[in-house]
Amino acid sequence: MFDPYKIREDFPILKRKINNHPLIYFDNAATSQKPKQVIEAVKEFYEKHNANVHRAVHTLSMEATELYEEAHEEIAKFIGAESMEEIVFVRGTTEAINLVAYSWGLHNLKRGDEVLTSLMEHHSNIVPWEILSKIKGFKVKYADVNPDGTLSQESLEENLTSKVKLVCITHVSNVTGVVNDVKTIAKLAHENGALVFVDGAQSVPHMPVDVHELNCDFLAFSGHKMLGPTGIGILYGRRELLEKMEPFHGGGEMIREVSFNPEKQRCTISWNDLPWKFEAGTPNICGAVGLMAAVKYLRALGMENVKAHECALTDHAMKRLEECPKITVYGPKDVRSKCGIIPFNVEGFNSHDVALLLDSYGIMIRSGFHCAQPLHQKFKIPSSARASFYIYNTREEIDRFIEALKEIEQAL
Ligand SMILES: Cc1ncc(COP(=O)(O)O)c(C=O)c1O
Repeated sequence: MFDPYKIREDFPILKRKINNHPLIYFDNAATSQKPKQVIEAVKEFYEKHNANVHRAVHTLSMEATELYEEAHEEIAKFIGAESMEEIVFVRGTTEAINLVAYSWGLHNLKRGDEVLTSLMEHHSNIVPWEILSKIKGFKVKYADVNPDGTLSQESLEENLTSKVKLVCITHVSNVTGVVNDVKTIAKLAHENGALVFVDGAQSVPHMPVDVHELNCDFLAFSGHKMLGPTGIGILYGRRELLEKMEPFHGGGEMIREVSFNPEKQRCTISWNDLPWKFEAGTPNICGAVGLMAAVKYLRALGMENVKAHECALTDHAMKRLEECPKITVYGPKDVRSKCGIIPFNVEGFNSHDVALLLDSYGIMIRSGFHCAQPLHQKFKIPSSARASFYIYNTREEIDRFIEALKEIEQAL
């Protein structure tokens, strides 16, 4: 039984009062709160097992290595990857995208090629491609977005020419919560000879995601948005692609051998096995251990249940927002095509002022353009307020949010 009230007991921060009100945390698209199971796993690691991984033969290093590798295996299971060789630990979605840009794009894209992304992307799925295109001379193209914030399938198909070598698309928009049909997009892209990179930052924490079902070549997501610690994220890559790719960062851990040739005065280097080839230097071991606890927690809840709970909350919030005449909600009205994220503006107020006023009621939301300026340009607004839900949010919290918004509406 999925019980948000019971779940809340696992989150110490939710006991806090802010501005004399019980904390309502609706900024989950930015980062999630952490349950005591994750906090305990991190604490236990430092108290009992802390050592560097893959380097020493002593007991602590063996224990740390075992936990670190087990974390890769847990993540592989969570997203249906074939093995832990396909799971690379990085700092987050941003680093995963940059890894693909530099390890794959730098060596495989050239003048005349195209990378197809969309106008609903987070900047982290735009900027690395624009930077690389300046170096390599390929073109970045943008599939358009419909007025309701959904992806224009027509524009995507029009832009998907034989020049496109990579389609980089978000699974779920971090502004509107729109869910893209990445399975169909992957099919079209593959038929066209392009690879598919899916930004799963807003999908993996909130719904079942299986890389085989999606048939994507790469998937990126961030641990901190799914109950895990900050500074740990994942790049999934199909094994044969990762095997052929050059490393991203060079250093310790990612090499098999570095041998100095005195005649040539050079070092010959061979790469380590997957996934270590892409994990240079001492990794975020404790972050991986915390993320493993987070994934176990989510798996016990059931990702279908997580999705259903957030859909029900969104449905309730969308209906109640209709009671607020000065509020404009962006994105699709039909909750079946979206996740638990609602962007809005209150007539006469700047989004930051709305967020500050809500803070005085103990309600935390995000304001600004949420690292997605092209989408805000499309909506012809400079910024928006954004409420985003997770497993510990309740209908009562949404009701308090609506009552606070009604008072704010009347303030002008
Ligand atoms: C859709 C999307 N992609 C990428 C990112 C970047 O994630 P991170 O900052 O964890 O690297 C975010 C973060 O908000 C996001 O929502």
